[in-house]
Amino acid sequence: VPDLPSSGAEVQLAARPEGEPRPEDFRVVQSELHEPSAGQILVRNSWMSIDPSARLRMHEAVSSYLPAFALDEALQGWAVGEVVSSEAERFAVGDQVLHQKGWRRYALLDTDQPPPVGPERIETDEAIPAKTYLGPLSWVGLTSYAGLLYVGELRDGDVVFVSGAAGAVGSLAVQIAKLRGHRVIGSAGSAAKVAFVRDELGADAAFSYRDGPVGELLAELAPDGIDFYFDNVGGDHLEAALAALRPHGRIALCGAISTYNDEVKPPGPSNLFEAVAKGLTLRGFLSRMYAERMAHFRREMRGWLAADRIVYPETVFTGLERAPEALIAQLRGENLGKVLVELD
Ligand SMILES: NC(=O)c1ccc[n+]([C@@H]2O[C@H](COP(=O)([O-])OP(=O)(O)OC[C@H]3O[C@@H](n4cnc5c(N)ncnc54)[C@H](OP(=O)(O)O)[C@@H]3O)[C@@H](O)[C@H]2O)c1
Repeated sequence: VPDLPSSGAEVQLAARPEGEPRPEDFRVVQSELHEPSAGQILVRNSWMSIDPSARLRMHEAVSSYLPAFALDEALQGWAVGEVVSSEAERFAVGDQVLHQKGWRRYALLDTDQPPPVGPERIETDEAIPAKTYLGPLSWVGLTSYAGLLYVGELRDGDVVFVSGAAGAVGSLAVQIAKLRGHRVIGSAGSAAKVAFVRDELGADAAFSYRDGPVGELLAELAPDGIDFYFDNVGGDHLEAALAALRPHGRIALCGAISTYNDEVKPPGPSNLFEAVAKGLTLRGFLSRMYAERMAHFRREMRGWLAADRIVYPETVFTGLERAPEALIAQLRGENLGKVLVELD
């Protein structure tokens, strides 16, 4: 390809953060670009997703299922972009693709594995631009859907509690649960977010966890208890939900953002015995475990989007060099909805 640049910017992990990440923990460098070899494509990224799991992967050891980022290498995360050079049969120059090598301007991708490991060609148009595949049609979207329906096995009449309710996963979870007719209680970190969760997302009730002990705030809004908890936060939220759940209630363990900056993880909930006494089910999951449900989920979500039944606010940072700032802001709760970085 004649007009391909010889290098492209990428954001590397310069140091493992202690506590909250600082801008100095990242570095933007120009890296040499290589032409694709057989089976590879080169993609010019246009948008990337910022996900709290990026902070988890900056720790030296997280889980072999979520490998740590290497120092002095580009971080990774969801991105969309256009194929600018292809040596792979299934991809042509000009195709829009969704893949996991964000945090860089150009991504060289192997195509031998199916999504979500390998890149996925996506259909875009005016109503559904490529970045929608980082939002409602994304793996984050599937996380909300699968967490409620497959992990939580939501049943008619269940009272649902969602933490992180103004964020990407939580805001979709609140709305999907409402579309299915549930009473939904949400929690978030400010009065403005609480108003958004109630007034824009349609939750029946919401509270700010900064206003007092989570257990007390939840008990006020759910005096008769809850049946299902969608856990994005862990810590005190998880303890509060264990206390509020009714017999045979369920928890979908989606994330525990309140602990991601901690070097030494706090011990588990002090009241786990509630699970014994009430016969509760706590089930963890990653969206990729439900990959075979993606097509079904997207069909349903496309229907909701076409009918204007889902809102999905975005907090956008412009420029690859602002990606670290975007992650820091997300961990501080400065975002509403999905955090995205626009690369051009
Ligand atoms: N299992 C999976 O496959 C999967 C996939 C995607 C995401 N996740 C998990 O889902 C959760 C939400 O991810 P997301 O992408 O939707 O991010 P997000 O909710 O859009 O952004 C993170 C939010 O977490 C809240 N937060 C930060 N520190 C907190 C604390 N100490 N206590 C309570 N809330 C805190 C902040 O909002 P406030 O202002 O409300 O504090 C912040 O806006 C994360 O735990 C993430 O790891 C899991």
